[in-house]
Amino acid sequence: MESIPSGLSEQDVFQTYGMSGTWTTSGRAALAVILQHLINHGVNHVHLPAYLCGSILLPIKELGLTYSFYRVDHELAAYPESMEGSAVLLIHYFGWLNKSTTRIREEAAHESFHLIEDTTHAFLSDWQISSANSNLVFMTPRKFGPVPLGGWCSVDTEVEVASKETEAMVWQSVAARLVRGLYLDKQLASSDVETETFYLQALRAVELFLDHHPTYIGLPQIAFDIIAGLNWDDIAKRRRANWRCLHDLLDGQVDALLKSLPEDVVPLGYVISVQGRDRLRARLASQRIFCPVHWTLPNEVDPQVFPEAALLSNTCMTIPIDQRYDTDDMVRIAEVIKTEL
Ligand SMILES: Cc1ncc(COP(=O)(O)O)c(C=O)c1O
Repeated sequence: MESIPSGLSEQDVFQTYGMSGTWTTSGRAALAVILQHLINHGVNHVHLPAYLCGSILLPIKELGLTYSFYRVDHELAAYPESMEGSAVLLIHYFGWLNKSTTRIREEAAHESFHLIEDTTHAFLSDWQISSANSNLVFMTPRKFGPVPLGGWCSVDTEVEVASKETEAMVWQSVAARLVRGLYLDKQLASSDVETETFYLQALRAVELFLDHHPTYIGLPQIAFDIIAGLNWDDIAKRRRANWRCLHDLLDGQVDALLKSLPEDVVPLGYVISVQGRDRLRARLASQRIFCPVHWTLPNEVDPQVFPEAALLSNTCMTIPIDQRYDTDDMVRIAEVIKTEL
């Protein structure tokens, strides 16, 4: 915590990707600001990728927009239908610029739909915004570091003072993350159920709060201080090094969803596609290697209509490569995976 400077004003962290915009409590809320801006311009429908995080639906429903889904293939390419006057959401998955980006940006320019780009996973990647100045962008830095709350979008709107409840949630999240850090550091063979229950419940309560308030904007100062105080350069370097290390160690033994790491990509995790994913995931968890699933699809996405998205959702898991881990950890993780496959 010592490395976090205090007293930074919102202006100090206001310029993001060289653009001005608005900080919010979450990615959901950042999307809500963009949607409200579009509603003010007569938009009432959002076209979404079938492979997505369910929380994205919350601001859409809260603001009363209609929505539909489009196909995403097994390589994460996006195929939205042209819907004049609607909004189309494009997600840059796992740190890589979506391979359909150029085509969709051109379509947006010629066919007059409003393109919204979700750069949450590409938060630390160089994702060539310059060619898309007219596009609407949002993200949250919460997936790449110990950031309790925070989201950002490229639309300027009036900034609200953070509510008392939001302030309380920031501290709850910070406390839960500290306890989780200590707990995971201990590397105990047997787990301390009470500690684990405490931090899991506390983090769940924060998520529930964000779920229930997907349009809250006001972000407490401490969240700005944490975002501005983190060494994002180190975080980026460590993630890239860990990804490369794991890729070398697991080469040919697992099916990596993304098979090479371009210079300008900072990956969210090492994503593999595997039959029997849930069994492997449980075996790894028993050895304290916790691999999130991106994502369990929301009920609104029909797996019969979108089998490729369903397959991604049912077979992929994300092996952690974040800054808490080093090469030794990657070696251990790779060994455990090879044993459990
Ligand atoms: C790609 C992507 N965009 C947006 C969000 C929403 O972010 P937040 O949880 O900060 O609302 C998520 C959530 O997991 C996500 O994975």
